[in-house]
Amino acid sequence: MFNGKSVLVTGGTGSFGRKYARTLLDRYDLKRLIIFSRDELKQFEMQQELNTPCMRYFIGDVRDRVRLMEALRGVDYVIHAAAMKQVPAAEYNPMECIRTNINGAENVIAAALDCGVERVIALSTDKAANPINLYGATKLASDKLFVAANNIAGGRKTTFSVVRYGNVAGSRGSVVPFFEKLIAEGAASLPITDPEMTRFWITLQEGVDFVLKNFERMSGGEIFVPKLPSIRVVDLATAMAPGLPQEIIGIRPGEKVHEVMCPADDSHRTLEFADHFVIQPSIVFFNRDQKYDVNRLGEQGVPVPRGFEYNSGTNPNFLSIEEIRAFNERARK
Ligand SMILES: NC(=O)c1ccc[n+]([C@@H]2O[C@H](COP(=O)([O-])OP(=O)(O)OC[C@H]3O[C@@H](n4cnc5c(N)ncnc54)[C@H](OP(=O)(O)O)[C@@H]3O)[C@@H](O)[C@H]2O)c1
Repeated sequence: MFNGKSVLVTGGTGSFGRKYARTLLDRYDLKRLIIFSRDELKQFEMQQELNTPCMRYFIGDVRDRVRLMEALRGVDYVIHAAAMKQVPAAEYNPMECIRTNINGAENVIAAALDCGVERVIALSTDKAANPINLYGATKLASDKLFVAANNIAGGRKTTFSVVRYGNVAGSRGSVVPFFEKLIAEGAASLPITDPEMTRFWITLQEGVDFVLKNFERMSGGEIFVPKLPSIRVVDLATAMAPGLPQEIIGIRPGEKVHEVMCPADDSHRTLEFADHFVIQPSIVFFNRDQKYDVNRLGEQGVPVPRGFEYNSGTNPNFLSIEEIRAFNERARK
């Protein structure tokens, strides 16, 4: 579906954006691929690795609607990945997080509608489900904006959906590179915030493939959630450094012991498919068909039981220490 199309990725120089760009270029014959982000150095470095004739590098800030409007002209599909995503940074700089994650989302929506973009997917996170930190709260607000945008579209053709997933193994600023650095520096122990802590675990390539698939599945308004394995953080530490002591340092501000992707309070509108869930919109759209139990690929979903919660702590699918090691190896590719 991407052959001959123009695609723009906000946050195109980030962990997701780079993998997404490479995957699109490997698999499709695009008309244009626009990388939209702020920092010229990250763009310069990415250009050294990836610079085909269809690629355009745009310096721009999602807080700047005018710039987004220029960038989105003639674009068919948008993936919105730009975000401020470090939990502590968001707690200490709340307005900056709100400006990027909420005002930025509003600007992407307005520009996409104005430019007649066909489909938009916004990346969300498990931290947006029952949020307890500002990062998660801003991503929940962003999710709500993207779902409601299908209504705001009125008669216009643009459809908006959300993809929500868990921790990306090895992404910038995450626990894997943090542990790797400590191990390389010869640390005497690895810090564990809580011995019970669990996380949903996904590779970047799986995240990218899930997003690409959902461009085909979406009819607008869905929050797509992949079925993922969970890991125990203590098992991750053991997989990365067997025999190295683990020091319990206590939970950090804004951190949860377990993450949730589908909250129990949304169970009455959650559908289960073979490899994913769909949380249906809580609002009625005026101009749109809202039948989500059969998607555009013909896949069928069934309602989950009332009270069902998709939680990293109660997930039936946990990776063993050996499986985490193999998973992390795969995540490097
Ligand atoms: N990594 C994970 O574990 C994870 C898990 C679930 C969901 N997600 C979501 O996935 C998305 C991508 O995450 P990632 O891991 O790729 O993040 P990342 O590596 O930190 O990349 C973020 C990207 O956004 C750009 N950016 C930040 N602020 C911007 C702004 N105001 N205007 C334009 N561009 C801006 C950054 O480039 P500049 O700084 O140069 O602008 C960079 O290209 C985010 O929405 C995140 O919430 C991530």
